[in-house]
Amino acid sequence: MSPTRLFVTGTGTGIGKTVFTVALTQAARSRGLRVRAVKPVETGCLGGRAEDALALAAAAGRPEDAELPGFHRGERPLAPFAATLEGEPPPPPIPALARAIDAASDDADLVLVEGAGGLLVPYDETHTFADLAVALATPLVLLLPNELGALHHAEAAIEAAKARGLQIAALVLVARPAADLAAESNARVLERRHPAVRLAAFPWSEDAAHRASAASRLLDIILDT
Ligand SMILES: Nc1ncnc2c1ncn2[C@@H]1O[C@H](COP(=O)(O)OP(=O)(O)OP(=O)(O)O)[C@@H](O)[C@H]1O
Ligand SMILES: [Mg+2]
Repeated sequence: MSPTRLFVTGTGTGIGKTVFTVALTQAARSRGLRVRAVKPVETGCLGGRAEDALALAAAAGRPEDAELPGFHRGERPLAPFAATLEGEPPPPPIPALARAIDAASDDADLVLVEGAGGLLVPYDETHTFADLAVALATPLVLLLPNELGALHHAEAAIEAAKARGLQIAALVLVARPAADLAAESNARVLERRHPAVRLAAFPWSEDAAHRASAASRLLDIILDT
């Protein structure tokens, strides 16, 4: 049976994709699932160290997955196309990267692919990370910070996904360290406007075990696609 494969993306950078993906990986492994968690394109790699990829691979118990043939590492903390314009080597063409990810999808029940930044981050002159998700034919797990402004970002991301025929496995509202008024109503608004989209909440917590147990509840929602 082919594994369940998900593309973990969201509405921006630094919103908790890696923290969430690590927690989901731990939750799935504690149920006995074989997990691979990869970051095929990572920028901001100081001295070539891909911190996100290393964290994901360690969580999955497959350190070798941090660096696989065909993956792209950039030095500047920029979108790949921005780094290319600064003179860095471009990422591989999307079909080639998709093949590299396919090769990393064996031997697992669940494959989690973390994008870089948000869904529509420019990959090259004509593509964004949404095109990578299309090439992978992979449903999205869309993360958004649960705060004022999230509704616009959610609407834009949902519209972009629908326009490309991308399935949304779940929309995950990630708590912020301090909740604002919108944090109470965002989920209600999204539920009413997008009843077909499954919503989940992920806590802000310094406790990795707490995050993994929250991710375990989300796993049921996410795997039921
Ligand atoms: N749920 C959370 N609970 C506590 N801290 C969090 C949580 N999510 C994110 N953080 C904090 O925010 C930082 C950025 O999160 P993370 O690296 O997961 O973002 P990202 O979306 O993967 O970013 P990038 O776009 O660079 O890949 C983390 O190093 C951590 O300190
Ligand atoms: Mg990350």
